[in-house]
Amino acid sequence: MADTRMNPEAPPAPEHAPIFRKDYEPPRWWVPEIHLDLDLSAASTRVTATLEVTRNGDHDEPLRLAGDELRPLAVRVDGKDAAWTLDGDDLVVPIEGDKATVETQVEIAPEKNSQLMGLYASGGLLCTQCESEGFRRITFHPDRPDVLSRYRVTMHADKARHPVLLANGNEVETGDEEDGRHYAVWEDPFPKPSYLFALVAGDLAANRDHFTTMSGRKVDLAIWVREKDLPKTAHAMQALKDSMKWDEEVYGREYDLDLFNIVAVDDFNFGAMENKGLNIFNSRYILADEDTATDGDFDNIAGVVAHEYFHNWSGNRVTCRDWFQLSLKEGFTVFRDQCFSQDMGSEAVKRIEDVRLLRAVQFPEDSGPLAHPVRPESYIEIANFYTATVYNKGAELIRMMHTILGPEKFRAGSDLYFDRHDGEAATCEDFVKAMEDASGADLSQFRLWYSQAGTPTVTAHLDHDPASGRAVLRLQQEVPDTPGQTDKQPMAIPLRVALLSEQSGEPIGEERLVMLGETRQSVTFEDVNEPPLLSINRGFSAPVTIKTDRDDRELQLLAASDPDPFARYEAGQDLMMRALLSAIDGEPLHTDAAIEAARATLADDSLDPAFKAEALIVPSESMIGERLDSIDPDKVHGARDALRKAIGEALSDPLRAAQADGAPGADRSGEGMGKRKLRGVALATLAAADPAEGARLAKAHYDAADNMTDRSHALGVLASLDAPERDAAFADFYARYREDSLVLDKWFALQAMAQREAALDEVEALACHPDFSMKNPNRLRALVGSFSANQWVFHHASGRGYKLLADMIVAADKLNPQVAARMVPPLGRWRRFEPGRAQLMREALERIAGEAGLSKDVFEQVSKSLT
Ligand code: TRP
Ligand code: ZN
Repeated sequence: MADTRMNPEAPPAPEHAPIFRKDYEPPRWWVPEIHLDLDLSAASTRVTATLEVTRNGDHDEPLRLAGDELRPLAVRVDGKDAAWTLDGDDLVVPIEGDKATVETQVEIAPEKNSQLMGLYASGGLLCTQCESEGFRRITFHPDRPDVLSRYRVTMHADKARHPVLLANGNEVETGDEEDGRHYAVWEDPFPKPSYLFALVAGDLAANRDHFTTMSGRKVDLAIWVREKDLPKTAHAMQALKDSMKWDEEVYGREYDLDLFNIVAVDDFNFGAMENKGLNIFNSRYILADEDTATDGDFDNIAGVVAHEYFHNWSGNRVTCRDWFQLSLKEGFTVFRDQCFSQDMGSEAVKRIEDVRLLRAVQFPEDSGPLAHPVRPESYIEIANFYTATVYNKGAELIRMMHTILGPEKFRAGSDLYFDRHDGEAATCEDFVKAMEDASGADLSQFRLWYSQAGTPTVTAHLDHDPASGRAVLRLQQEVPDTPGQTDKQPMAIPLRVALLSEQSGEPIGEERLVMLGETRQSVTFEDVNEPPLLSINRGFSAPVTIKTDRDDRELQLLAASDPDPFARYEAGQDLMMRALLSAIDGEPLHTDAAIEAARATLADDSLDPAFKAEALIVPSESMIGERLDSIDPDKVHGARDALRKAIGEALSDPLRAAQADGAPGADRSGEGMGKRKLRGVALATLAAADPAEGARLAKAHYDAADNMTDRSHALGVLASLDAPERDAAFADFYARYREDSLVLDKWFALQAMAQREAALDEVEALACHPDFSMKNPNRLRALVGSFSANQWVFHHASGRGYKLLADMIVAADKLNPQVAARMVPPLGRWRRFEPGRAQLMREALERIAGEAGLSKDVFEQVSKSLT
């Protein structure tokens, strides 16, 4: 029998009821001060919380404190035992006057906390993760981001096991206690929401450094890791100092405490967390050296270190009023970290990478059953809304405002925003209003980007009349329906547009910023006295899909000469995509234009190698799938393989030259990294054309490597080849790195990304490998995340891939609901696949839905995916 919870007619179980943005009400009680006393140990930690509470306004409601798996051992109001009750998970405490001191005591078991929310054990460490609603797993508290408190934290722990005790802010007192225990007291002078609370207790060593701020204050910096990992912290430390400087120079933002601590932990649900003065990181975003980390890992580390540091202003000094405003801090902070990375490396290549990520992850989300606006209207479990839409599309919204206002007015807007809302919990509306007030711009239509989900499509057609020297650009926009939203209003879409000479590729007149606000709109260009090429959405100025009727010849010219690097890249990608789509449609594969564009790119000495590498990467199978109404993964795979083979054959000479032109691992310059990237793409393309020769080349590439980038490129190629070199290289890699869990993650991921007939068998075998564990989120994602993103293999016509994923989701949900729920979206795309697969995918979802005792997290993702 079907589970009634999945029946849309039946009212949801109370614990699965949605929360609506429109229902926001200010808190009934403030908590200006908190003292936490924690008697720490992995088995059992006693938490005594003392909350100073004050009544907010004129009402007679009791104090209501959220809890999650907590049982009160004692509740006192002003020193006297209180007449408390429990309402579900909430602790309800009656209070007479307008203020009181409320003391609660609970006992928690960090080592049993497999959700990794609240206080948990990772290795020998004790650490916390509170965003969004983890603080209520440590102590009873309002635990909502608009309640800001000053914290004083006392930690007691065994001195031998946990010699280092850290919390937010500054250390104010330490000392020894009986029985080999010790204590430390930390105070954070800045009022903060509970989700920014953190503590760490463990045996850690610090890489210490310092930074002098623009006003001349010295800030002590420390990155805490296990002693043996200290040599791998140099890159993160440099990134931290670079970020501090960049935020001063670009946003005028200075750090505000005398101390900034970062701790790396091995078990972590996400990338990292911006806790005030005590950032906690997934160790994969801190630890790196040439031998164990790829250039991509190095870049991600710098990006995440910057992201968390930038949150000190965009998130901590100005926080979110409620969780519907999540993009206020995340979209803005992603935009800030993207710009930082653009400034530190190649601007064009970083933009290409960010757009690729947006298209690979956010576009599918926006066109599927889990689509939601950047500022959602409702949620069942907020942890499900840490999405590419809130983060990456949110960042595109900020970037569009930057484009519309220009850098000076944007900076005036951000200054006003920080100034106006410092110390407050703000909304997305507050941000847009500050931008408007500082610039005089009217962003009323622009606000629709926050409320309307779905990726708009813009159709563009250019007419040129040689007689009048006039060119007319006709634009039309369409905003697709998404769950719960139909008949949308036209959006305000900023399009950077230029016309280029067909002859020379030189611009005809200035680039223009076209604001497309109507459903249909035309724009006239004067003095166009030669046939023009259309360069549109330059720099990817708006997160939309552009459809044009430019032919192969025009795209080839743009791919060879557009001065805007993103548009140039895009023209080449369009050529490949066209060839792929028509082949999937049953036409013969026409590769000439794409090959000629790639040849010209490879030969162009003005281009840096990283850009060439990007231009040579054929659109991924899932990206191709996004463009189809009914995906047949075998056809997509076949067409993509054929195109890669054709490019590899036609360009074998320049590709061989690129593959032979490496850079030593010690060369971490842009040039060095670019060469390694291009050589990896060249290797992969050559192997597509000639697998046997590819296997030999890849093995040599692997054997000669003095760095992880080359090694993993080679392994990535070998993974998809049925050749003896494959097994030899994987065995070598395993033997060499089996003790290094971050590198072993790569070993799992590379095999799960392999594209060969036997790949599914191997993934099934890896799921039983002794080194596989569902308890460690990195390991789980390395295998299951990589596999479910491997379209051709995951969507095996037998449905075995779906079965494996469904089994994994059900099992993972019992340990860690947040991480399990993030594995659901690949199954949710069922409507986009050919009927046989769609049916099997649906069945897998239904089977999950029928499980008893599903978490809210998985329940929400699965039920939304089915309706
Ligand atoms: N605020 C964090 C960031 O983006 C996100 C985060 C860290 C998080 N840990 C989490 C979100 C756990 C949900 C659950 O930087
Ligand atoms: Zn963030």
